[in-house]
Amino acid sequence: MKNGILKGKKGIIFGALDENSIAWKTAERVFEEGGEFVLTNVATAARFGKVKELAEKTNATFIPADATNMQDLENLFAETLKIFNGKIDFVLHSIGMSLNIRKGLQYQELNYNYYMKTLDISAISFHKIMQTAYKMDAMNEWGSIVALTYIAAQRIFDGYNDMADAKALLESIARSFGYIFSRDKKVRVNTVSQSPVQTTAGKGIKQFGSLFDYAEKISPLGNADGYDAANLIVMLFSDYTKKITMQNIYNDGGFSSMGVSKNFFED
Ligand code: NAI
Repeated sequence: MKNGILKGKKGIIFGALDENSIAWKTAERVFEEGGEFVLTNVATAARFGKVKELAEKTNATFIPADATNMQDLENLFAETLKIFNGKIDFVLHSIGMSLNIRKGLQYQELNYNYYMKTLDISAISFHKIMQTAYKMDAMNEWGSIVALTYIAAQRIFDGYNDMADAKALLESIARSFGYIFSRDKKVRVNTVSQSPVQTTAGKGIKQFGSLFDYAEKISPLGNADGYDAANLIVMLFSDYTKKITMQNIYNDGGFSSMGVSKNFFED
């Protein structure tokens, strides 16, 4: 499927770590559709991940940045504007991390330093990225900014822990900054609420395998995978979605509208 719908569009993609990452799949699809981009991640991801391999494949420049660090972000946007000799059209935020989950701490026993880090890395970084782009006037009119989220922002998923709070904040930031960005710069901001996908971040969640299977069974179309996410994001970056803003879009095979499925009863 190559229709060139992102020809001439330029942007920044945060969060490609390895070939399973949603951001990796998105970068591949954006490239196929004619888009150009800078890839970014924390410096350690470049050392231990494979992001440089992806950069080579997609003719992209890799610029390291910690998405919680304003100086790194200013440098990233300044360098990107230089590379493209002008403003950009799209930004993908595909970032998430919880030290509480990594250390096996449950919601009723959160470490608050870790909790603040979860919120900063997984949600407030989205505000920091948008504030940087807004102040530097880095986005072209009719540009598009997208972040990845999960339905645990609305409903309880045992084990999703403090990431549920981070996703609720992320979605709220998308609405609040989406209003400002749309009003002042004609740039839309949306979140994609994605089915479970087997990635490094995904597999960090307790009993991820059971969660994945449950969602697969309940969703009439089955789980949306990383490639499905990439296709939706390509569409959201394209001119076909110019008036969609401040929305949380479920890319979940119907999961969010379900109660109990036939599949579930027959199992
Ligand atoms: P992933 O582990 O491949 O990607 C997470 C990325 O965040 C990594 O590249 C990591 O290096 C980056 N990151 C962590 N701290 C950072 C920081 N301080 N600055 C910059 N980057 C940082 O996993 P995945 O699944 O592709 O995650 C992408 C997004 O999708 C996350 O927001 C995740 O919560 C969301 N999501 C994932 C689902 C899943 O089941 N895998 C389901 C729904 C949403």
